[in-house]
Amino acid sequence: MPLMDYTELIDFLDNKKFGRIIEKLPQDFLTAFNHGDFDGWVSALQELPDISPTSWDLQEGVRIGEAGQCNDGQREQLKRALLKLQPWRKGPFDMFGLDMDTEWRSDWKWDRLKDHISPLENRNVLDIGCGNGYHCWRMAGAGARFVLGVDSHLLFTMQYWAIRHFLKEPPVFVVPLALEDLPAELNSFDSVFSMGVLYHRRSPFGHLYGLKDCLRHGGELILETLVIEGRKGMTLVPQGRYARMPNVWFLPSCDTLHEWLKKVGFSNIRLVDVTKTSVEEQRTTAWMNFESLPEALGKDSPGITIESYPAPMRAIFVAEKP
Ligand SMILES: C[S@@+](CC[C@H](N)C(=O)[O-])C[C@H]1O[C@@H](n2cnc3c(N)ncnc32)[C@H](O)[C@@H]1O
Repeated sequence: MPLMDYTELIDFLDNKKFGRIIEKLPQDFLTAFNHGDFDGWVSALQELPDISPTSWDLQEGVRIGEAGQCNDGQREQLKRALLKLQPWRKGPFDMFGLDMDTEWRSDWKWDRLKDHISPLENRNVLDIGCGNGYHCWRMAGAGARFVLGVDSHLLFTMQYWAIRHFLKEPPVFVVPLALEDLPAELNSFDSVFSMGVLYHRRSPFGHLYGLKDCLRHGGELILETLVIEGRKGMTLVPQGRYARMPNVWFLPSCDTLHEWLKKVGFSNIRLVDVTKTSVEEQRTTAWMNFESLPEALGKDSPGITIESYPAPMRAIFVAEKP
């Protein structure tokens, strides 16, 4: 398979209700996105060993192949190539016995939501801000017919291609686009996920309307975002950074977010989980060696961030487009 070839995605989209997405895809990926560290990332993909997994599991986690399929030399080659695509934030991945212990235990987020959403069997699913696509693989593992992940950060698409290099079968695709790049009024996906994105948007209502636009009538939104404790109407707008992140705009209380979803026209709105992010769930590892959550919290008061805001707490809402 040529590098980063979206032919299969285009074939899949052809004649579908959401086929207009094809117009937004680059004709020639290698030319369109040749900037930044792109050349280094491409050579990392080229250095991946050619091994076909004899088995994989996307239900209990993301496991591709088995340790016995790889000799030590191949596993070292695999590790070296994958490390060139650092930082690996979302995971973990088990690649032929290589344990990719990423910054986030993204499997914990999946565990918190999986029993609260409509079964994904045979559904067309869109994951906005999917990162490297970790949850997209889990969605396929849960039976989705087709999963499209969209993320505006190119490196994460390159990480997706590193995984896709080995796992060619389930129809899971990640493209380096933003929600705003998608054609208007797709009105077609059965489930749309937006996890960890809303607080990065300057216009939270623009984001919520954009998500609603992608859903068919009766389709389901799964929204995960940072929240604060507090009553209806309360929203934190951090000045400067929040937990060391420069691009955080709105942290509503759960009751406020419920109102926002209602205002945008969602129905059957349910808050299914609220969890404080722990330093076991987000931390520095061998696959992400920058500072992480522990360094963003007060040393003697881990309940607040180093900027004196409430420490990260995340809520998951499920809602329907009428
Ligand atoms: C905190 S990460 C969350 C990743 C994953 N969804 C998860 O929950 O683990 C947020 C991601 O959203 C992406 N992002 C931010 N704004 C976006 C937009 N408008 N459209 C698509 N992706 C966006 C960022 O590049 C980043 O990878």
